[in-house]
Amino acid sequence: MSLVPFDDRDGWIWFDGRMVPWREAGLHVLSHGLHYASAVFEGERAYGGNIFRLRAHTERLLASGRLLGFEIPWSAEAIDAACREVLSRNGLSDGYLRPVAWRGSERLAIAARDTRIHLAIAAWAWPNLFGEDRLRGIRLGMARWRRPAPDTAPTASKASGLYMIGTLAKHAAEEEGFDDALMLDFKGDVAEATGANIFFVMDGALHTPEPSCFLDGITRRSVMALARRRQIDVVERRIAPEEIARASEAFLAGTAAEVTPVRAIGDRTFTTSAMTKALLGDYETLVRLPPAEVAARLGTAA
Ligand SMILES: Cc1ncc(COP(=O)(O)O)c(C=O)c1O
Repeated sequence: MSLVPFDDRDGWIWFDGRMVPWREAGLHVLSHGLHYASAVFEGERAYGGNIFRLRAHTERLLASGRLLGFEIPWSAEAIDAACREVLSRNGLSDGYLRPVAWRGSERLAIAARDTRIHLAIAAWAWPNLFGEDRLRGIRLGMARWRRPAPDTAPTASKASGLYMIGTLAKHAAEEEGFDDALMLDFKGDVAEATGANIFFVMDGALHTPEPSCFLDGITRRSVMALARRRQIDVVERRIAPEEIARASEAFLAGTAAEVTPVRAIGDRTFTTSAMTKALLGDYETLVRLPPAEVAARLGTAA
C-alpha cells in the first residue's frame, strides 16, 4: 500500500475550473464543508481511458449536492469534461477519480446558505480497494453501527457525513482481523459494506437488499443488468441477517471494490463458485467496452 500522503504528490487537480498543481489544491481550515460535513463526493474508475458510467456518476454528484441543499455551479457536461481532462493531464488511462464538492468559508455557522460551492476533481492510480489477492475472497465482520433511516439522514446522497459511521465500522472490523464490515440498516436487515453493496446467491438466484437507506450503487445496477442478461433471477428485497447462513455465495459490488468475492461473514464461510465468477468476468469485460457499448449492454443512456 502506498504511504505517500495525499497532499504531497505530483500531478494536477481540477479546482473550481482551473487545473492546479497537486500540492497547491488546498482549502481554508474554516470551510463549512469541513466543520459541518456540507460536502458530497463521487468515486469513479477509468479503464483503458474511458471513465465507466461517467454521466451516471456526474448526475449522482449533482443530485447528492441538491439533497444537501446546494447546487454545484457546473453543468453535467462541464463536469464530465473536467473529469476527462484530469485523467489525461495526470497521464492515466486506468485510475480512480474523486470529484468532491463542498460549502466554502464565507460563513461558519450551521446556517450557511450563501456560502460558495466549490468543486475539485483528482485522479490517481488505485488498483482495487481490497488489493491483489481479493479474488481469494474477503472476510466481513458484523458492524456495530447501522445505516440510518432515510428520515434520519439524506441516505440517497453520497454525502461525506454518512461516511463517519463507515469509517468507524471499518476500523472496528480491521481491528478484529476482518477486511471490511457488513452493516445492517436501522431496521436490523442487511444493508451493505462500508463502501460497496452486497449480493448473495441463494437457490440459484441473486439476492440483494433494497437500497432504501443506502446508495443504489452504479456498480450494483450494472451487476444486476449483467445477471439478467444471463437469465439469472435478481431479487431485491429485505434480507434478514439470519438468512446469510443459507447463501451459497456472496460478493460485494462498488466502484472501488469492483466485484469482490466474500469468503466469510463472521463465522459463516463461502466458496466463490460459478455465479460470482461469471458476474465478475462479465463486469471486467463490461468496464473495458467503449461507453456506447456499455450503455447498449446495460440498457442505459450513453
Ligand atoms: C457506502 C457505499 N455504498 C455503495 C457504494 C457503491 O456505489 P457505486 O457502485 O456507485 O460506486 C459505494 C461506493 O461508491 C459506497 O461508498
